[in-house]
Amino acid sequence: METDATIEDLDAPTGAPTNDRVAEGPKKVFVKTYGCQMNVYDSQRMSDALAADGYSSTEKIEDADLILLNTCHIREKAAEKVYSELGRLRQMKNERALQGREMLVGVTGCVAQAEGSEILRRAPAVDLVVGPQTYHRLPDVVKKARSGRRIVETEYAIEDKFEHLPQPKRAELARRGVTAFLTVQEGCDKFCTFCVVPYTRGSEVSRSVSQIVSEAERLAEAGVREVTLLGQNVNAWHGEGPDGTEWGLGRLLFRLAEIPGIARLRYTTSHPRDMDDDLIAAHRDLRVLMPYLHLPVQSGSDRILKAMNRQHKAADYLRLLDRIRQARPDIALSGDFIVGFPGESDADFEDTMRLVEEVQYASAYSFKYSPRPGTPGAEMSDHVPEDIKDDRLQKLQALLTRQQNEFAASLVGKTFETLIEKPGRKAGQVVGRSPWLQPVIVDESAGKIGDIVSVRITRLGTNSLYGEAVQGH
Ligand code: SAH
Ligand code: SF4
Ligand code: F3S
Repeated sequence: METDATIEDLDAPTGAPTNDRVAEGPKKVFVKTYGCQMNVYDSQRMSDALAADGYSSTEKIEDADLILLNTCHIREKAAEKVYSELGRLRQMKNERALQGREMLVGVTGCVAQAEGSEILRRAPAVDLVVGPQTYHRLPDVVKKARSGRRIVETEYAIEDKFEHLPQPKRAELARRGVTAFLTVQEGCDKFCTFCVVPYTRGSEVSRSVSQIVSEAERLAEAGVREVTLLGQNVNAWHGEGPDGTEWGLGRLLFRLAEIPGIARLRYTTSHPRDMDDDLIAAHRDLRVLMPYLHLPVQSGSDRILKAMNRQHKAADYLRLLDRIRQARPDIALSGDFIVGFPGESDADFEDTMRLVEEVQYASAYSFKYSPRPGTPGAEMSDHVPEDIKDDRLQKLQALLTRQQNEFAASLVGKTFETLIEKPGRKAGQVVGRSPWLQPVIVDESAGKIGDIVSVRITRLGTNSLYGEAVQGH
């Protein structure tokens, strides 16, 4: 959908008020996050960088002097959402201008990286565009934008952005809760033929062991109990350990498990090609590594897997799952699927359904193939008609939903550890999280936020489980 964008001179100021029109008092930033957990983490780090520069965060858009849309480019719908939001913001900005109030609009994230100055052309409300590799320069870009310039900053920075991003204050970390994300790896060298990530996030980069350990220690000191390590290809993470040898994700998990206070570890998203022996051993030997693994396969057809450049066959994936399940029998699986990739026949789709039947997922995400500009998939012939994609998606989702419900039902009557995360919606209740990421609702007498308590599941809620604390389990 085209929005009300007009073509205009990129150098022309857009009516952003200069400093002398700016109201007194501290500035506020509102960040709206689209897409994956990586963007959630990045939004926090951007807020941290701006906080160091005098911007406090607000959850109310009407209070904000700076509005950032941290965007996702993975499917067409995700990218287009941004332009409709920018249309709304243009109106808001015009109203603000009449009141003489500053309002800067920035686009960050994967659409920023993919489209750069095109965004300024399509969306007149936008003052700044900053790609994921340059977030440490954000305060500087904002300063320039406040003086009325429109800025695009999408070069891959030579300096390590993580070295330059300020760490949040302990109180701020504590405010964010008892679970946290920690990006350990960014970018992707796999070039699946449907995917924009290698273009929007660049090539694979791993953060150093020391950076990761010190960030995890800070989180633990602020009361965080559960850390989820993030990467577009998180199990491709590697780095030099303090012993001088090359570490993979498995070794890193063992190291992080030693940090006092850290009671739970997770990682996402991993690629089947990078599940090595050490990582499987971590699932066997590390109790703090949660028995839940998101391991996307995308398709059950070898022909389609090849066309997608996934670099493995369906049988390789199933064999890998056997090994992981042998190592950790209570592990539950989650996956991602694409239906309607170019050339996908009914028989190919049936292969996917068969694979899902065989695996039995505890949860999964499934999508209709969306051709993305610049990817090889978009150039392929034999695109699948939309109504067939719809039909396949519906069938696949029905099967996956059934499996998800069966998995949840299998937990009724079972007892397991639950991390109490936040107050419940109803008074007297608190919400915890199961090892498999489901919300677990219990009476507040079960424990306080941050406690890990044994809970016996009594019944199913719509998207949650109800349980009661079990003493001395
Ligand atoms: N790195 C992860 C995936 C990141 S993208 C991996 O390799 O599995 C998250 C999910 O979005 C993918 O797993 C895929 O299922 C889906 N996806 C990516 N590109 C897509 C496209 N062009 N159309 C539809 N779904 C897509
Ligand atoms: Fe995209 Fe494939 Fe890389 Fe995952 S592994 S981010 S799907 S290119
Ligand atoms: Fe989207 Fe970028 Fe994440 S394209 S899924 S926000 S890496």
